[in-house]
Amino acid sequence: MNKADILLDIKNLTTSFRIKDDYFAAVDDVTLTLRKNEVLAIVGESGCGKSTLATSIVGLHNPDDTKTEGEIIYHKKNLVAMTDEQFNNVRGAEIGFIFQDPLSALNPLMRIEQQIEESLIYHTKLNKDARHKRVIELLEQVGIPNPQRTAKQFPHQLSGGMRQRVMIAIALSCKPAVIIADEPTTALDVTIQAQILDLLKELQTETEAGIILITHDLGVVAEIADRVAVMYAGQVIEEAPVNELFTNPKHPYTRSLLNSIPQMNVEGEKLNVIHGIVPSLKNLPRTGCRFSSRVPWLDTSSHEQEPRMHEVAPDHYVRCTCWQTFRFEEESDVV
Ligand SMILES: Nc1ncnc2c1ncn2[C@@H]1O[C@H](COP(=O)(O)OP(=O)(O)O)[C@@H](O)[C@H]1O
Ligand code: SF4
Ligand SMILES: [Mg+2]
Repeated sequence: MNKADILLDIKNLTTSFRIKDDYFAAVDDVTLTLRKNEVLAIVGESGCGKSTLATSIVGLHNPDDTKTEGEIIYHKKNLVAMTDEQFNNVRGAEIGFIFQDPLSALNPLMRIEQQIEESLIYHTKLNKDARHKRVIELLEQVGIPNPQRTAKQFPHQLSGGMRQRVMIAIALSCKPAVIIADEPTTALDVTIQAQILDLLKELQTETEAGIILITHDLGVVAEIADRVAVMYAGQVIEEAPVNELFTNPKHPYTRSLLNSIPQMNVEGEKLNVIHGIVPSLKNLPRTGCRFSSRVPWLDTSSHEQEPRMHEVAPDHYVRCTCWQTFRFEEESDVV
């Protein structure tokens, strides 16, 4: 990989929340890169640390109860070490973000035009007329049919899909190099989901931005991602180009996630799916393989104490000692 193509270089990022007097890592030693012009999907079950990773990148944690360590390098600067004031210049302008619930992110009392304008006032020197032109242009760009009318409306007057388009317009307003989208289509119905994903992909191609798309939906990943990082219990456990991940998954957890997609299984049966849930933050095992409690039939005594990332193919990494020999319980008798 060409180093010049790296937009965000996340190194050993650990974000811990305070619970009573102790800190517990929700993102634990994550190393990842986002490259120019790509959609990097982050997938994993609820509670595995995806949103914490997103909010760490956009610096939205309260330092009173959250500790962030490691580095997020953007244009040779470490975002983790920035003051709030420095971060305010990067957030929104160079790194845009889109969250799951546009209604709670939008101000109910402000017209759409004002909300998009706010970011332009903060980050650009455009005058009133130029800002209005840009607002209309952005609303057009995100496929809003009557931009002049929508600009004058309040959030509650718009449908969920239209509100998410407005959020995308705000995220794009300053032409960011990086966009972080956390479950941007989860709250929308399926047809609208597809439209919003198409829009994101189209905008990404046009603007050459790098997008980190967080989702628990592998259908979304298949549709739009170039590369995928799978998270489990705060760690990245597998990383690969999208086709490689879907055709040649190695980690037991990734294989289980893929097996649980009904349409990938012709008989409609969910075979070789590992049951259980992501442990809560306080109860996460901090030593040994985090996944071992979900594969109780395995004798893990010979597995690496702290499984490291193994390169199994070009650009394909897996955090599992026995990726070559792992078998599901149903497969155990098969020689
Ligand atoms: N502000 C917080 N304080 C304490 N624990 C938190 C906080 N935010 C998230 N967590 C915990 O951190 C873990 C990861 O959460 P999150 O990043 O939201 O996961 P995901 O987005 O993958 O569902 C969960 O166990 C969650 O309960
Ligand atoms: S290292 Fe061992 S316990 Fe961990 S995921 Fe791999 S097979 Fe399972
Ligand atoms: Mg989340």
